[in-house]
Parts: sequence; C-alpha cells; structure tokens
Amino acid sequence: MVEISAITFETYAAEARAEIEGALIRWTEFDADCPGKLREAIRHSLLAPCKRLRPLLVLMSAEACGYDRVRAMPAACAVEMIHTYSLIHDDLPAMDDDDLRRGQPTCHAQFDEATAILAGDALLTRAFEIMAKEISPPDVAARCCVELASAAGASGMVAGQVEDLAGETENGGLDALEAIHRRKTGAMFRVSLRLGAIVAQADSEQLDRLDSYGEKLGLAFQIVDDLLDVHGSETAMGKRTGKDSERGKLTFPRLLGLEASKFRARQLIDDALAEVNEFGPAAAHLESLARYVVDRNH
Ligand code: IPE
Ligand code: IPE
Ligand code: MG
Ligand code: MG
Ligand code: MG
Repeated sequence: MVEISAITFETYAAEARAEIEGALIRWTEFDADCPGKLREAIRHSLLAPCKRLRPLLVLMSAEACGYDRVRAMPAACAVEMIHTYSLIHDDLPAMDDDDLRRGQPTCHAQFDEATAILAGDALLTRAFEIMAKEISPPDVAARCCVELASAAGASGMVAGQVEDLAGETENGGLDALEAIHRRKTGAMFRVSLRLGAIVAQADSEQLDRLDSYGEKLGLAFQIVDDLLDVHGSETAMGKRTGKDSERGKLTFPRLLGLEASKFRARQLIDDALAEVNEFGPAAAHLESLARYVVDRNH
C-alpha cells in the first residue's frame, strides 16, 4: 500500500516539479538592472535540486478542488520563492550557521553574507510581484497576497524562526515546541493548501479541510525533519545533520525520544489523511504526498 502510493507520488511529482522549475526559471530572469551576481545567487539557491513540497501542495490542492494546476502555478512559485528565501536566511551565520543546502554550498558560503541576505530579500519581494501580476481575477490575487504575507510574516514563519532561535537558550516543553513548529513550518504548509483552494475558488468547507490537512502535515513534516537531523544521511538530505543537538535546539526527539516522535508523526499523518477523505479520488495525490512525508529519507 505504502509502496504503491510512493510510486504514484514520485511519478506525479517528477512531472509537476519539471513544470514548477520551468516557471521558476522564467520568473527569475529579471531585467538588465538586476546585477549578475544577485541573479546568480538567487538561482543558485532557488533552482538547486530539492523536493518542492510546498509548490506541489499548492498544485495538488487546486486539483483537489477540480481546478487546472497550471493556473495555480503563480501561487506555487511564490510559495517556493518565500520558502527558499527563508532557507537562505536560516543558513546564515546569525541563524543556524550552515554551509550545505540542497546538496551544494549555502548561498552565503558560495557568494557572501550580504549577497545572501539580499538574494533572500529579492525572492521575498518577487513572490508578491508574481502573484499580484499573474493571478486573476484581481480580488483573488489580492486575497492570495494577504494570506501569504500573513503566513510568512511576523506572526507566522518569521515568528517561528524567532522562537526557534530563542529555544536554543531557553527551556521549553511540548506546548512551546509545537508553537514553534506550527509557525516556522506549519504556517507555510497551511498557506500552500489554502492558496491552491483560493485560486480554485473553492467553498469554505473545502478550504477548511485542506487547511486542517496542511496544519497536521506541516507539524508531521517538521517532526520528521527533526528526526532526520538525528539519524538521516547528509548525502541523501543535501544538508548537515546533528546540528540541532549541537546548537541546543528544542526538537521532538529531544523532548519525546525517537520512537514517540515517530509515533506522533504517523498519528498526525493519519489525521491529515482523514481530513481529505471526503474529496475522494481528487485528493489521491495529497494522500500519497502525506504518506511520502513520513516515510522519506531526505
Ligand atoms: C527544509 O524544508 C526546511 C524545513 C522547514 C525543515 P524542505 O525539507 O522542504 O527543503 P527543500 O525545499 O526540499 O530543500
Ligand atoms: C527551518 O527549520 C524552517 C525555516 C526555514 C522557516 P530548520 O532550521 O529545522 O531547517 P533545516 O533543518 O535547516 O532545513
Ligand atoms: Mg532553523
Ligand atoms: Mg536550519
Ligand atoms: Mg531542521
């Protein structure tokens, strides 16, 4: 069962990733005023090989609501641009201080710190430019911009990053940890599902179910990320491992142990699957992605 859905996911994902990457290339050409080094730094991080889970979720969510995935591409690429900017900044010496990302040197290691900060800034602004220009009708575009801004901003992903860093020196329990993961990772997963549904002009019941699937999936995803930092392979993941305990991060394995963390992730995936059950075959890809998230090795 798991094997069949893994094949389904990989087949779909390979095709959709090629579409996403084609659009990312197109939307990061920039005009002659963009300095060459900046363009190169942006593309170094954005176009490196990776999972593209968040843009896949945008496309799958739109499809689950009966919409053509091609029309959800601007929102999918905007989410990936914001995610990549968050990784560039997450890797900076002032944050997690990492030298390897997506199988290659981090942006600041390949270029320099100022260029990495500015490449992140440019991706963040490009994301909103693409959505405002490419999504129609305009009221749907405006709604997408508001949703993505609030998920990525000071009460969402950025808030989670602030608390994640504070957690290196402060002792917190499970509630504090879930509050970090809900914002630093969960918010971007949730909004990926929401954007797909919003561009598809889904009804509020569909939107709520997809949102709830995204919330559970996002938390499970970050639990698995914490687990892979303990026992994953650097080669498979394309990033360093063992860094969380080195930096004293508050993580699921640290608080619950490996087995209980795995159990919790599986439980959350089952709950996520239950949320999209009602969509029937239209949600088959969302189901296979959820199973992949908990079984992945990178
Ligand atoms: C890494 O995200 C950051 C986390 C939220 C743990 P991914 O594991 O989705 O990274 P990419 O996009 O595939 O590189
Ligand atoms: C990063 O979380 C989350 C964001 C970038 C918002 P992590 O710090 O755990 O991600 P990795 O492990 O470096 O990919
Ligand atoms: Mg971090
Ligand atoms: Mg990190
Ligand atoms: Mg991590």
